[in-house]
Amino acid sequence: MSPRVAIVGAGPSGFYAAAQLLAVGEPEFSVDLLDRLPTPFGLVRAGVAPDHPKIKSVQRAYEKTARHERFRFLGGVELGRDVTRAELLERYHAVIYCVGTATDRRLGIPGEDLSGSYPATEFVAWYNGHPDFCDHEFDLQRAVRVAVVGNGNVAMDVARMIALSHDELKITDVADHALDVLQHAAVQEIVVLGRRGPVQAAFTTPELREMGELDRADVTADLDGTDLTVPEDADRTTRDNVGLLREYAARDRSGKPMLVRFRFLVSPVEILGDDDGRVRALRLERNALVDGRARGTGELEELPVDLVFRSIGYTGTPVDDVPFDEARGLIRNAGGRVLDDDGAPLTGEYVSGWIKRGPSGVIGTNKKDSQDTVNRLLEDAAAGRLLEPSRPGLDDAVTWEGWLDIDMAEKAAGEPHGRPRVKLTRWEQLHAAAGIPARGAVR
Ligand SMILES: Cc1cc2nc3c(=O)[nH]c(=O)nc-3n(C[C@H](O)[C@H](O)[C@H](O)COP(=O)(O)OP(=O)(O)OC[C@H]3O[C@@H](n4cnc5c(N)ncnc54)[C@H](O)[C@@H]3O)c2cc1C
Ligand SMILES: NC(=O)c1ccc[n+]([C@@H]2O[C@H](COP(=O)([O-])OP(=O)(O)OC[C@H]3O[C@@H](n4cnc5c(N)ncnc54)[C@H](OP(=O)(O)O)[C@@H]3O)[C@@H](O)[C@H]2O)c1
Repeated sequence: MSPRVAIVGAGPSGFYAAAQLLAVGEPEFSVDLLDRLPTPFGLVRAGVAPDHPKIKSVQRAYEKTARHERFRFLGGVELGRDVTRAELLERYHAVIYCVGTATDRRLGIPGEDLSGSYPATEFVAWYNGHPDFCDHEFDLQRAVRVAVVGNGNVAMDVARMIALSHDELKITDVADHALDVLQHAAVQEIVVLGRRGPVQAAFTTPELREMGELDRADVTADLDGTDLTVPEDADRTTRDNVGLLREYAARDRSGKPMLVRFRFLVSPVEILGDDDGRVRALRLERNALVDGRARGTGELEELPVDLVFRSIGYTGTPVDDVPFDEARGLIRNAGGRVLDDDGAPLTGEYVSGWIKRGPSGVIGTNKKDSQDTVNRLLEDAAAGRLLEPSRPGLDDAVTWEGWLDIDMAEKAAGEPHGRPRVKLTRWEQLHAAAGIPARGAVR
Protein backbone atom coordinates (compact mmCIF):
# COMPACT_ATOMS: atom_id res chain seq x y z
CA MET A 1 0.00 0.00 0.00
CA SER A 2 1.28 3.46 -0.87
CA PRO A 3 1.96 5.22 2.45
CA ARG A 4 -0.39 8.09 3.30
CA VAL A 5 0.91 11.12 5.15
CA ALA A 6 -1.31 13.76 6.77
CA ILE A 7 0.33 17.19 7.00
CA VAL A 8 -1.49 19.53 9.38
CA GLY A 9 -1.12 23.18 8.35
CA ALA A 10 -0.93 24.50 4.78
CA GLY A 11 1.66 27.22 5.36
CA PRO A 12 5.17 27.20 3.86
CA SER A 13 6.49 24.37 6.04
CA GLY A 14 3.48 22.17 5.19
CA PHE A 15 3.76 22.81 1.47
CA TYR A 16 7.54 22.23 1.42
CA ALA A 17 7.12 18.94 3.31
CA ALA A 18 4.39 17.90 0.86
CA ALA A 19 6.55 18.66 -2.19
CA GLN A 20 9.52 16.82 -0.68
CA LEU A 21 7.46 13.70 0.09
CA LEU A 22 5.83 13.69 -3.34
CA ALA A 23 9.26 13.89 -4.97
CA VAL A 24 10.30 10.55 -3.42
CA GLY A 25 10.27 7.75 -6.02
CA GLU A 26 10.03 4.74 -3.75
CA PRO A 27 7.78 4.44 -1.85
CA GLU A 28 5.27 6.72 -3.57
CA PHE A 29 3.70 8.73 -0.76
CA SER A 30 0.28 10.28 -1.04
CA VAL A 31 -0.25 13.47 0.93
CA ASP A 32 -3.33 14.98 2.54
CA LEU A 33 -2.63 18.60 3.53
CA LEU A 34 -5.12 19.80 6.17
CA ASP A 35 -5.77 23.36 7.25
CA ARG A 36 -8.30 24.81 9.67
CA LEU A 37 -8.93 27.56 7.11
CA PRO A 38 -10.64 26.90 3.78
CA THR A 39 -7.74 28.84 2.23
CA PRO A 40 -4.13 27.60 1.94
CA PHE A 41 -0.69 29.28 2.38
CA GLY A 42 -0.67 30.14 6.12
CA LEU A 43 1.18 33.38 6.86
CA VAL A 44 1.92 33.95 3.18
CA ARG A 45 -1.75 34.90 2.95
CA ALA A 46 -2.41 36.02 6.53
CA GLY A 47 0.97 37.46 7.59
CA VAL A 48 3.04 38.87 4.73
CA ALA A 49 2.22 42.56 4.34
CA PRO A 50 -0.26 43.47 1.58
CA ASP A 51 2.19 45.96 0.04
CA HIS A 52 4.73 43.16 -0.51
CA PRO A 53 3.03 41.27 -3.35
CA LYS A 54 6.28 39.89 -4.81
CA ILE A 55 6.90 37.84 -1.68
CA LYS A 56 3.52 36.20 -2.10
CA SER A 57 4.50 34.91 -5.55
CA VAL A 58 6.06 31.94 -3.71
CA GLN A 59 2.49 30.62 -3.78
CA ARG A 60 3.11 29.56 -7.38
CA ALA A 61 5.48 26.84 -6.22
CA TYR A 62 2.86 25.65 -3.72
CA GLU A 63 0.20 25.62 -6.46
CA LYS A 64 2.44 23.34 -8.49
CA THR A 65 2.65 20.94 -5.55
CA ALA A 66 -1.14 21.04 -5.23
CA ARG A 67 -1.54 19.85 -8.83
CA HIS A 68 0.29 16.58 -8.08
CA GLU A 69 -1.99 13.57 -8.54
CA ARG A 70 -1.12 12.14 -5.12
CA PHE A 71 -1.88 15.42 -3.31
CA ARG A 72 -5.16 16.46 -1.68
CA PHE A 73 -5.97 19.71 0.16
CA LEU A 74 -8.46 19.31 3.00
CA GLY A 75 -9.41 22.85 3.97
CA GLY A 76 -11.64 23.81 6.89
CA VAL A 77 -10.41 20.86 8.97
CA GLU A 78 -9.02 21.83 12.35
CA LEU A 79 -6.96 19.39 14.37
CA GLY A 80 -8.46 19.41 17.86
CA ARG A 81 -11.91 20.42 16.63
CA ASP A 82 -12.91 18.55 13.46
CA VAL A 83 -10.44 15.74 13.82
CA THR A 84 -8.41 14.40 16.74
CA ARG A 85 -4.78 13.41 16.89
CA ALA A 86 -5.83 9.82 17.70
CA GLU A 87 -7.99 9.72 14.60
CA LEU A 88 -5.17 10.94 12.35
CA LEU A 89 -2.91 8.27 13.80
CA GLU A 90 -5.54 5.63 12.93
CA ARG A 91 -5.88 6.88 9.36
CA TYR A 92 -2.33 7.70 8.22
CA HIS A 93 1.11 6.08 8.15
CA ALA A 94 2.59 9.34 9.42
CA VAL A 95 1.49 12.82 10.49
CA ILE A 96 3.57 16.01 10.20
CA TYR A 97 2.42 18.93 12.35
CA CYS A 98 3.08 22.27 10.60
CA VAL A 99 0.57 24.39 12.52
CA GLY A 100 2.71 27.52 13.03
CA THR A 101 2.74 29.72 16.13
CA ALA A 102 -0.31 31.92 15.81
CA THR A 103 -0.43 33.76 19.13
CA ASP A 104 1.55 36.61 20.71
CA ARG A 105 4.30 36.64 23.30
CA ARG A 106 3.33 38.79 26.28
CA LEU A 107 5.27 41.69 27.74
CA GLY A 108 4.08 40.66 31.22
CA ILE A 109 3.60 44.24 32.46
CA PRO A 110 0.64 45.95 34.17
CA GLY A 111 -1.91 47.46 31.78
CA GLU A 112 -1.14 45.06 28.93
CA ASP A 113 -4.85 44.26 28.46
CA LEU A 114 -6.17 47.83 28.53
CA SER A 115 -8.40 48.83 25.65
CA GLY A 116 -6.09 50.15 22.92
CA SER A 117 -3.22 47.76 23.71
CA TYR A 118 -3.09 45.27 20.86
CA PRO A 119 -0.89 42.32 19.95
CA ALA A 120 0.64 42.65 16.48
CA THR A 121 -0.56 39.09 15.77
CA GLU A 122 -4.19 40.30 15.79
CA PHE A 123 -3.58 43.53 13.88
CA VAL A 124 -1.70 41.64 11.16
CA ALA A 125 -4.41 38.96 10.91
CA TRP A 126 -7.08 41.69 10.76
CA TYR A 127 -5.55 43.75 7.94
CA ASN A 128 -4.82 40.53 6.04
CA GLY A 129 -8.45 39.38 6.19
CA HIS A 130 -8.09 36.30 8.44
CA PRO A 131 -11.71 35.24 9.09
CA ASP A 132 -11.20 34.91 12.88
CA PHE A 133 -10.28 38.60 13.10
CA CYS A 134 -12.58 40.35 10.63
CA ASP A 135 -14.73 41.90 13.39
CA HIS A 136 -11.81 43.20 15.49
CA GLU A 137 -11.64 46.95 15.99
CA PHE A 138 -8.51 49.08 16.04
CA ASP A 139 -9.21 52.57 17.27
CA LEU A 140 -6.96 54.39 14.80
CA GLN A 141 -9.44 57.20 14.17
CA ARG A 142 -8.99 58.70 17.61
CA ALA A 143 -5.29 57.94 18.03
CA VAL A 144 -2.78 60.73 17.54
CA ARG A 145 0.35 59.00 18.81
CA VAL A 146 0.80 55.24 18.72
CA ALA A 147 3.66 53.09 19.99
CA VAL A 148 4.95 49.95 18.33
CA VAL A 149 6.96 47.88 20.81
CA GLY A 150 9.64 45.67 19.24
CA ASN A 151 12.39 45.94 16.66
CA GLY A 152 11.66 43.00 14.37
CA ASN A 153 10.30 42.91 10.83
CA VAL A 154 6.76 42.43 12.11
CA ALA A 155 7.10 45.72 14.01
CA MET A 156 8.21 47.28 10.71
CA ASP A 157 5.13 45.83 8.96
CA VAL A 158 2.81 47.15 11.67
CA ALA A 159 4.31 50.67 11.68
CA ARG A 160 4.36 50.84 7.89
CA MET A 161 0.77 49.61 7.48
CA ILE A 162 -0.42 52.44 9.74
CA ALA A 163 1.70 54.95 7.83
CA LEU A 164 0.86 53.90 4.26
CA SER A 165 -1.30 56.35 2.32
CA HIS A 166 -4.60 55.37 0.79
CA ASP A 167 -3.02 55.51 -2.68
CA GLU A 168 -0.31 53.10 -1.61
CA LEU A 169 -2.81 50.72 0.02
CA LYS A 170 -5.73 50.74 -2.38
CA ILE A 171 -3.79 48.76 -5.00
CA THR A 172 -3.03 45.93 -2.56
CA ASP A 173 -5.01 42.96 -1.26
CA VAL A 174 -5.41 44.52 2.21
CA ALA A 175 -8.80 43.52 3.67
CA ASP A 176 -11.50 46.03 2.72
CA HIS A 177 -12.50 46.58 6.37
CA ALA A 178 -8.89 47.61 7.13
CA LEU A 179 -8.54 49.81 4.07
CA ASP A 180 -11.33 51.99 5.34
CA VAL A 181 -10.01 52.28 8.91
CA LEU A 182 -6.41 52.90 7.83
CA GLN A 183 -7.43 55.59 5.36
CA HIS A 184 -9.11 57.58 8.12
CA ALA A 185 -6.40 57.07 10.75
CA ALA A 186 -5.82 60.25 12.75
CA VAL A 187 -2.30 59.17 13.67
CA GLN A 188 0.41 61.84 13.54
CA GLU A 189 3.27 59.96 15.16
CA ILE A 190 4.30 56.30 15.28
CA VAL A 191 7.02 55.66 17.85
CA VAL A 192 8.92 52.40 17.34
CA LEU A 193 10.51 51.27 20.59
CA GLY A 194 13.57 49.02 20.79
CA ARG A 195 14.72 47.66 24.14
CA ARG A 196 18.29 47.45 22.87
CA GLY A 197 20.27 49.65 20.45
CA PRO A 198 20.39 50.14 16.67
CA VAL A 199 23.22 47.61 16.39
CA GLN A 200 21.04 44.91 17.98
CA ALA A 201 17.84 45.60 16.00
CA ALA A 202 16.26 42.50 14.42
CA PHE A 203 14.71 44.23 11.39
CA THR A 204 16.39 43.96 8.00
CA THR A 205 17.62 46.85 5.86
CA PRO A 206 15.07 46.80 3.00
CA GLU A 207 12.28 47.02 5.58
CA LEU A 208 14.05 49.91 7.37
CA ARG A 209 14.66 51.67 4.05
CA GLU A 210 10.96 51.49 3.12
CA MET A 211 10.23 53.52 6.25
CA GLY A 212 12.14 56.42 4.72
CA GLU A 213 10.21 56.31 1.44
CA LEU A 214 6.59 56.65 2.54
CA ASP A 215 4.10 59.02 0.88
CA ARG A 216 2.47 60.31 4.04
CA ALA A 217 5.15 59.91 6.73
CA ASP A 218 8.54 61.43 7.48
CA VAL A 219 11.03 59.44 9.48
CA THR A 220 13.46 60.24 12.29
CA ALA A 221 15.62 58.36 14.76
CA ASP A 222 16.59 59.39 18.30
CA LEU A 223 20.12 58.06 18.63
CA ASP A 224 21.30 60.07 21.65
CA GLY A 225 22.85 57.76 24.21
CA THR A 226 23.06 54.80 21.84
CA ASP A 227 26.33 53.12 20.96
CA LEU A 228 26.66 53.15 17.17
CA THR A 229 29.94 51.26 17.04
CA VAL A 230 29.47 48.41 14.60
CA PRO A 231 31.52 45.38 15.72
CA GLU A 232 34.20 44.18 13.29
CA ASP A 233 32.44 40.87 12.76
CA ALA A 234 28.98 42.40 12.29
CA ASP A 235 27.01 41.39 9.21
CA ARG A 236 26.05 43.72 6.41
CA THR A 237 22.49 44.15 7.73
CA THR A 238 23.76 45.63 11.00
CA ARG A 239 26.18 47.94 9.19
CA ASP A 240 23.54 49.13 6.71
CA ASN A 241 20.88 49.53 9.41
CA VAL A 242 23.15 51.76 11.48
CA GLY A 243 24.07 53.84 8.42
CA LEU A 244 20.43 54.30 7.53
CA LEU A 245 19.40 55.20 11.07
CA ARG A 246 22.17 57.83 11.21
CA GLU A 247 20.77 59.27 8.00
CA TYR A 248 17.23 59.28 9.44
CA ALA A 249 18.48 61.03 12.59
CA ALA A 250 19.90 63.82 10.43
CA ARG A 251 16.80 64.24 8.25
CA ASP A 252 14.60 67.32 8.50
CA ARG A 253 10.85 67.02 8.39
CA SER A 254 9.44 67.58 4.93
CA GLY A 255 5.92 68.45 6.04
CA LYS A 256 4.25 65.05 5.62
CA PRO A 257 1.31 64.57 8.01
CA MET A 258 2.85 61.63 9.92
CA LEU A 259 6.19 60.93 11.55
CA VAL A 260 7.76 57.54 12.22
CA ARG A 261 10.19 57.93 15.14
CA PHE A 262 12.69 55.23 16.11
CA ARG A 263 13.71 55.16 19.77
CA PHE A 264 16.15 52.75 21.38
CA LEU A 265 17.23 51.48 24.80
CA VAL A 266 13.77 51.73 26.35
CA SER A 267 11.43 49.08 27.76
CA PRO A 268 7.77 49.54 28.59
CA VAL A 269 7.30 48.73 32.30
CA GLU A 270 3.61 49.71 32.50
CA ILE A 271 0.79 50.70 30.17
CA LEU A 272 -1.23 53.46 31.81
CA GLY A 273 -4.97 53.89 31.30
CA ASP A 274 -7.51 56.69 31.60
CA ASP A 275 -10.73 56.53 33.67
CA ASP A 276 -12.44 54.54 30.89
CA GLY A 277 -9.72 51.89 30.90
CA ARG A 278 -8.22 53.07 27.62
CA VAL A 279 -4.51 53.47 26.97
CA ARG A 280 -3.23 56.98 27.68
CA ALA A 281 0.54 56.51 28.13
CA LEU A 282 3.46 54.15 28.36
CA ARG A 283 5.79 54.16 31.35
CA LEU A 284 9.23 53.51 29.89
CA GLU A 285 12.42 52.55 31.64
CA ARG A 286 15.71 53.56 30.11
CA ASN A 287 18.04 50.60 29.51
CA ALA A 288 21.77 50.14 29.42
CA LEU A 289 23.41 47.39 27.41
CA VAL A 290 25.22 44.93 29.64
CA ASP A 291 26.97 42.08 27.81
CA GLY A 292 24.68 42.71 24.87
CA ARG A 293 21.50 42.45 26.98
CA ALA A 294 19.05 45.21 27.95
CA ARG A 295 19.33 46.05 31.65
CA GLY A 296 16.93 48.60 33.28
CA THR A 297 18.64 51.66 34.77
CA GLY A 298 15.69 52.67 36.99
CA GLU A 299 15.35 55.93 35.06
CA LEU A 300 11.65 56.29 34.10
CA GLU A 301 9.66 58.49 31.75
CA GLU A 302 6.02 58.71 30.72
CA LEU A 303 5.30 58.76 26.99
CA PRO A 304 1.72 59.84 26.16
CA VAL A 305 0.31 57.42 23.57
CA ASP A 306 -3.23 56.52 22.49
CA LEU A 307 -2.55 52.99 21.28
CA VAL A 308 0.12 50.37 21.84
CA PHE A 309 0.96 47.62 19.34
CA ARG A 310 2.99 44.88 21.03
CA SER A 311 5.24 43.24 18.44
CA ILE A 312 7.72 41.20 20.44
CA GLY A 313 7.32 37.88 18.67
CA TYR A 314 4.87 35.05 18.14
CA THR A 315 4.47 31.88 20.19
CA GLY A 316 2.83 28.49 19.74
CA THR A 317 -0.11 26.98 21.59
CA PRO A 318 -0.77 23.28 22.26
CA VAL A 319 -2.79 21.50 19.61
CA ASP A 320 -5.05 18.67 20.75
CA ASP A 321 -2.91 16.34 22.89
CA VAL A 322 0.26 16.57 20.80
CA PRO A 323 3.23 16.71 23.25
CA PHE A 324 4.05 20.36 23.91
CA ASP A 325 7.06 22.11 25.41
CA GLU A 326 5.34 24.88 27.41
CA ALA A 327 8.58 26.68 28.21
CA ARG A 328 9.54 27.07 24.55
CA GLY A 329 6.01 27.27 23.09
CA LEU A 330 6.77 24.45 20.64
CA ILE A 331 5.80 20.86 19.90
CA ARG A 332 8.36 18.80 21.78
CA ASN A 333 10.72 17.31 19.22
CA ALA A 334 14.23 16.27 18.33
CA GLY A 335 15.19 17.21 14.78
CA GLY A 336 11.53 16.98 13.72
CA ARG A 337 10.60 13.70 15.46
CA VAL A 338 7.88 14.35 18.05
CA LEU A 339 8.97 13.18 21.52
CA ASP A 340 6.85 11.66 24.31
CA ASP A 341 7.02 12.80 27.96
CA ASP A 342 10.14 10.69 28.51
CA GLY A 343 11.92 12.17 25.50
CA ALA A 344 11.50 9.07 23.30
CA PRO A 345 10.46 9.53 19.64
CA LEU A 346 6.82 8.69 18.91
CA THR A 347 6.10 6.43 15.95
CA GLY A 348 4.79 8.27 12.89
CA GLU A 349 4.66 11.80 14.35
CA TYR A 350 6.77 14.66 13.01
CA VAL A 351 6.87 18.45 13.10
CA SER A 352 8.19 21.26 10.90
CA GLY A 353 8.23 25.06 10.58
CA TRP A 354 7.70 27.66 13.29
CA ILE A 355 6.02 25.15 15.65
CA LYS A 356 9.16 22.99 15.44
CA ARG A 357 11.95 25.53 15.83
CA GLY A 358 10.26 28.74 17.03
CA PRO A 359 8.75 31.82 15.39
CA SER A 360 11.69 33.11 13.42
CA GLY A 361 12.99 32.83 9.89
CA VAL A 362 11.71 33.85 6.50
CA ILE A 363 9.59 31.74 4.19
CA GLY A 364 12.61 30.01 2.59
CA THR A 365 14.00 28.95 5.99
CA ASN A 366 11.11 26.49 6.22
CA LYS A 367 12.24 24.62 3.11
CA LYS A 368 15.39 23.24 4.68
CA ASP A 369 13.58 22.75 7.96
CA SER A 370 10.95 20.58 6.27
CA GLN A 371 13.62 18.67 4.35
CA ASP A 372 15.32 17.80 7.65
CA THR A 373 12.02 16.52 9.03
CA VAL A 374 11.14 14.61 5.86
CA ASN A 375 14.59 12.98 5.94
CA ARG A 376 13.82 11.67 9.45
CA LEU A 377 10.49 10.34 8.21
CA LEU A 378 12.18 8.62 5.26
CA GLU A 379 14.77 7.03 7.57
CA ASP A 380 11.92 5.69 9.71
CA ALA A 381 9.98 4.48 6.65
CA ALA A 382 13.05 2.60 5.42
CA ALA A 383 13.39 0.97 8.85
CA GLY A 384 9.69 -0.03 8.88
CA ARG A 385 8.96 2.38 11.72
CA LEU A 386 5.79 4.13 10.45
CA LEU A 387 2.19 3.57 11.60
CA GLU A 388 -0.18 0.88 10.27
CA PRO A 389 -3.46 2.71 9.63
CA SER A 390 -6.66 0.78 10.28
CA ARG A 391 -9.03 3.28 8.61
CA PRO A 392 -8.98 5.23 5.31
CA GLY A 393 -7.81 8.86 5.03
CA LEU A 394 -10.12 11.79 5.74
CA ASP A 395 -12.65 13.10 3.25
CA ASP A 396 -15.33 15.73 2.67
CA ALA A 397 -13.54 18.98 3.33
CA VAL A 398 -12.94 22.09 1.25
CA THR A 399 -10.87 20.67 -1.59
CA TRP A 400 -8.25 22.37 -3.76
CA GLU A 401 -11.05 22.98 -6.28
CA GLY A 402 -13.00 24.73 -3.51
CA TRP A 403 -10.01 26.97 -2.84
CA LEU A 404 -9.66 27.68 -6.57
CA ASP A 405 -13.29 28.86 -6.56
CA ILE A 406 -12.48 31.21 -3.65
CA ASP A 407 -9.32 32.36 -5.45
CA MET A 408 -11.23 33.06 -8.66
CA ALA A 409 -13.97 35.01 -6.84
CA GLU A 410 -11.39 37.13 -5.00
CA LYS A 411 -9.36 37.87 -8.13
CA ALA A 412 -12.49 38.75 -10.11
CA ALA A 413 -13.53 41.20 -7.37
CA GLY A 414 -10.08 42.83 -7.42
CA GLU A 415 -9.63 43.13 -11.16
CA PRO A 416 -11.86 46.18 -11.87
CA HIS A 417 -9.99 48.10 -9.14
CA GLY A 418 -6.47 47.17 -10.25
CA ARG A 419 -6.01 45.06 -7.12
CA PRO A 420 -4.58 41.51 -7.04
CA ARG A 421 -7.70 40.37 -5.20
CA VAL A 422 -10.38 41.49 -2.78
CA LYS A 423 -10.21 38.94 0.02
CA LEU A 424 -13.28 37.18 1.33
CA THR A 425 -12.91 37.74 5.05
CA ARG A 426 -15.87 35.98 6.65
CA TRP A 427 -16.25 32.26 7.21
CA GLU A 428 -19.69 32.19 5.57
CA GLN A 429 -18.41 34.04 2.45
CA LEU A 430 -15.51 31.61 2.14
CA HIS A 431 -17.76 28.58 2.51
CA ALA A 432 -20.27 29.92 0.04
CA ALA A 433 -17.56 30.61 -2.55
CA ALA A 434 -16.09 27.14 -2.03
CA GLY A 435 -19.55 25.64 -2.45
CA ILE A 436 -19.81 23.95 0.92
CA PRO A 437 -22.70 24.43 3.35
CA ALA A 438 -20.94 25.02 6.67
CA ARG A 439 -17.71 24.81 8.63
CA GLY A 440 -16.21 21.59 9.83
CA ALA A 441 -17.72 18.11 9.61
CA VAL A 442 -15.28 15.74 8.03
CA ARG A 443 -15.45 11.92 7.92
C1 LIG B 1 3.44 39.32 10.07
C2 LIG B 1 4.44 38.43 9.35
C3 LIG B 1 4.97 38.83 8.15
C4 LIG B 1 5.90 38.05 7.52
N1 LIG B 1 6.43 38.50 6.34
C5 LIG B 1 7.37 37.76 5.72
C6 LIG B 1 7.93 38.22 4.51
O1 LIG B 1 7.60 39.32 4.03
N2 LIG B 1 8.87 37.44 3.91
C7 LIG B 1 9.26 36.23 4.43
O2 LIG B 1 10.09 35.54 3.83
N3 LIG B 1 8.74 35.77 5.60
C8 LIG B 1 7.80 36.50 6.24
N4 LIG B 1 7.28 36.06 7.41
C9 LIG B 1 7.73 34.75 7.94
C10 LIG B 1 6.94 33.57 7.30
O3 LIG B 1 5.60 33.94 7.19
C11 LIG B 1 7.11 32.29 8.14
O4 LIG B 1 8.48 31.91 8.08
C12 LIG B 1 6.26 31.11 7.66
O5 LIG B 1 4.94 31.48 7.36
C13 LIG B 1 6.21 30.00 8.71
O6 LIG B 1 5.60 28.90 8.11
P1 LIG B 1 4.82 27.75 8.91
O7 LIG B 1 4.34 26.81 7.86
O8 LIG B 1 5.67 27.21 9.99
O9 LIG B 1 3.59 28.47 9.64
P2 LIG B 1 2.31 29.27 9.11
O10 LIG B 1 2.64 30.05 7.90
O11 LIG B 1 1.82 30.00 10.29
O12 LIG B 1 1.24 28.15 8.71
C14 LIG B 1 0.57 27.39 9.69
C15 LIG B 1 -0.75 26.88 9.12
O13 LIG B 1 -1.32 25.94 10.04
C16 LIG B 1 -2.74 26.13 10.11
N5 LIG B 1 -3.19 25.59 11.41
C17 LIG B 1 -2.92 26.08 12.64
N6 LIG B 1 -3.52 25.32 13.59
C18 LIG B 1 -4.16 24.32 12.94
C19 LIG B 1 -4.95 23.23 13.38
N7 LIG B 1 -5.18 22.98 14.70
N8 LIG B 1 -5.51 22.40 12.45
C20 LIG B 1 -5.28 22.63 11.13
N9 LIG B 1 -4.54 23.66 10.65
C21 LIG B 1 -3.97 24.49 11.55
C22 LIG B 1 -2.89 27.63 9.98
O14 LIG B 1 -4.20 28.00 9.56
C23 LIG B 1 -1.81 27.97 8.93
O15 LIG B 1 -2.34 27.93 7.63
C24 LIG B 1 6.33 36.82 8.08
C25 LIG B 1 5.79 36.41 9.30
C26 LIG B 1 4.86 37.21 9.93
C27 LIG B 1 4.29 36.78 11.26
N1 LIG C 1 9.82 41.32 5.30
C1 LIG C 1 10.20 40.19 5.87
O1 LIG C 1 11.07 39.49 5.38
C2 LIG C 1 9.56 39.76 7.16
C3 LIG C 1 8.43 40.43 7.63
C4 LIG C 1 7.89 40.04 8.85
C5 LIG C 1 8.46 38.99 9.55
N2 LIG C 1 9.54 38.35 9.05
C6 LIG C 1 10.24 37.32 9.82
O2 LIG C 1 9.38 36.70 10.75
C7 LIG C 1 10.11 36.40 11.95
C8 LIG C 1 9.37 36.94 13.16
O3 LIG C 1 9.44 38.36 13.21
P1 LIG C 1 9.14 39.17 14.56
O4 LIG C 1 9.32 40.60 14.27
O5 LIG C 1 7.85 38.69 15.13
O6 LIG C 1 10.22 38.60 15.58
P2 LIG C 1 11.77 38.95 15.82
O7 LIG C 1 12.51 39.19 14.57
O8 LIG C 1 12.24 37.87 16.73
O9 LIG C 1 11.76 40.35 16.63
C9 LIG C 1 11.21 40.45 17.91
C10 LIG C 1 11.57 41.80 18.49
O10 LIG C 1 10.90 41.93 19.73
C11 LIG C 1 11.83 42.35 20.72
N3 LIG C 1 11.41 41.88 22.04
C12 LIG C 1 11.26 40.61 22.47
N4 LIG C 1 10.84 40.60 23.75
C13 LIG C 1 10.74 41.89 24.13
C14 LIG C 1 10.35 42.51 25.33
N5 LIG C 1 9.97 41.81 26.40
N6 LIG C 1 10.36 43.86 25.38
C15 LIG C 1 10.73 44.60 24.32
N7 LIG C 1 11.09 44.05 23.14
C16 LIG C 1 11.10 42.72 23.05
C17 LIG C 1 13.14 41.73 20.29
O11 LIG C 1 14.20 42.42 20.91
P3 LIG C 1 15.55 41.64 21.32
O12 LIG C 1 16.32 41.50 20.06
O13 LIG C 1 16.16 42.56 22.31
O14 LIG C 1 15.13 40.32 21.91
C18 LIG C 1 13.06 41.97 18.78
O15 LIG C 1 13.44 43.28 18.47
C19 LIG C 1 11.50 36.99 11.78
O16 LIG C 1 12.41 36.00 11.37
C20 LIG C 1 11.28 38.00 10.68
O17 LIG C 1 12.46 38.30 9.95
C21 LIG C 1 10.11 38.72 7.86
